[in-house]
Amino acid sequence: MMQRALFSRGALLAQQTSAALEGPLGAKSAPVLLRLDRSMSSVTIPPPACMLRPLEVPLRYLFGPGPSNVPPRILAAGSRPIIGHLHPEMYEIMNDIKKGIQYAFQTENNMTIAMSGSGHAAMECAVFNTVEPGESVLIAINGIWGERVAEIAERMGANVHRMVKTPGRYFTNTEIEQAIKKHKPVLLFLAHGESSAGLCHPVDGIGDICRKHDCLFLVDTVASLGAAPIFMDKQNIDILYSGSQKALNAPPGTAPISFNDRACHKMFNRKTKPVSYLFDMTHLSNYWGCDGKPARVYHHTGPVSGFFALRESLAILAERGLEESWEKHKEVAAYLYRGLEDLGLKLFVPERDLRLPSVTTIAIPEGYDWREMLTYIMKHHCIEMTGGLGPSIGMVMRIGLMGYNCEKTNADMALHALADALKNCKKSKA
Ligand SMILES: Cc1ncc(COP(=O)(O)O)c(C=O)c1O
Repeated sequence: MMQRALFSRGALLAQQTSAALEGPLGAKSAPVLLRLDRSMSSVTIPPPACMLRPLEVPLRYLFGPGPSNVPPRILAAGSRPIIGHLHPEMYEIMNDIKKGIQYAFQTENNMTIAMSGSGHAAMECAVFNTVEPGESVLIAINGIWGERVAEIAERMGANVHRMVKTPGRYFTNTEIEQAIKKHKPVLLFLAHGESSAGLCHPVDGIGDICRKHDCLFLVDTVASLGAAPIFMDKQNIDILYSGSQKALNAPPGTAPISFNDRACHKMFNRKTKPVSYLFDMTHLSNYWGCDGKPARVYHHTGPVSGFFALRESLAILAERGLEESWEKHKEVAAYLYRGLEDLGLKLFVPERDLRLPSVTTIAIPEGYDWREMLTYIMKHHCIEMTGGLGPSIGMVMRIGLMGYNCEKTNADMALHALADALKNCKKSKA
């Protein structure tokens, strides 16, 4: 069947270019192919015309909340020749990735891996493995990411308790402790970098509260890793995950995650199997060489090129150093805030220290349609910025300057584009 389809596609191409197709002795070969096509083809759906055109990808400035532009060095790493996902060299690369994540997370946890999948894969892996159906979980919601995790937990049958604040607001440790006392959850979720609202949530002390009440502390750093300080071990975070495509600057599709001993104890002493086979840490810990067994066995085929790129992005972070990366994000964000205020724009998160350095949120200026402004900026400046997400839709516009993109020159470009949009999109319908 496949062979016939290939013949048929070849014949179609031959049809289109028959004048140019000649055999080694100058004889036209197209008629032969065409005859082959008529006699052999059993397909009723022709090859789509779009698939016969070359791939086109525009160059864009990705100044939204992610993905971010990927530097040439990481793109080059991702385009290296494929090797087998179970080859010893691949295990070496995976071991390097593990060490790179341990550095980025500031953890010595052995159970540290990268998911084959985007940030959502890590979210599901964390919840599916550490929570059993019927168990109580507490989710801090101050933007979309808490909502998302609550839905994931509900789908696997957890008893979900929501603590809700408007986007951009934060929870005090006292509020968190009160809610833990009330609901007695096995797990608390908090987004460190709430990218839908532009908030960087304080984390200090929450891990200790969780320990006191025998609850695991799960933290999302998809949008903050490399941009704002996080110390998994020192801050007593039990499960931490991130994504590849934000400040790490790798392509989307891989997601670092780490579990400490408390989390491992809970997830490897379950009564039920996790609902997902692909995300089952019993298998993944073996695939990543974290279970102490001498042999790694096939579980799934990891995204080999994605892992090459992730390794390179973690290598860049290690060479540069976390402190320098955090400082750079802070400095460029401060520069951007000044420029935005000079344009008369209002920053959405009032407390400067709580703003997420990688993703800045602006309150939508009165008298403007944010969609029109963003479309204008894309059309005239080739720059992606975005609106809100989930509960912050209609409240904010978001500018992301992360990792490779985190430069004052890029902040200037974003400010120039915004100034132009403010001039030309004025008084549109709100
Ligand atoms: C804070 C946060 N968590 C989770 C995610 C989900 O990541 P992904 O889109 O890679 O699945 C994102 C993506 O924007 C995010 O910003």
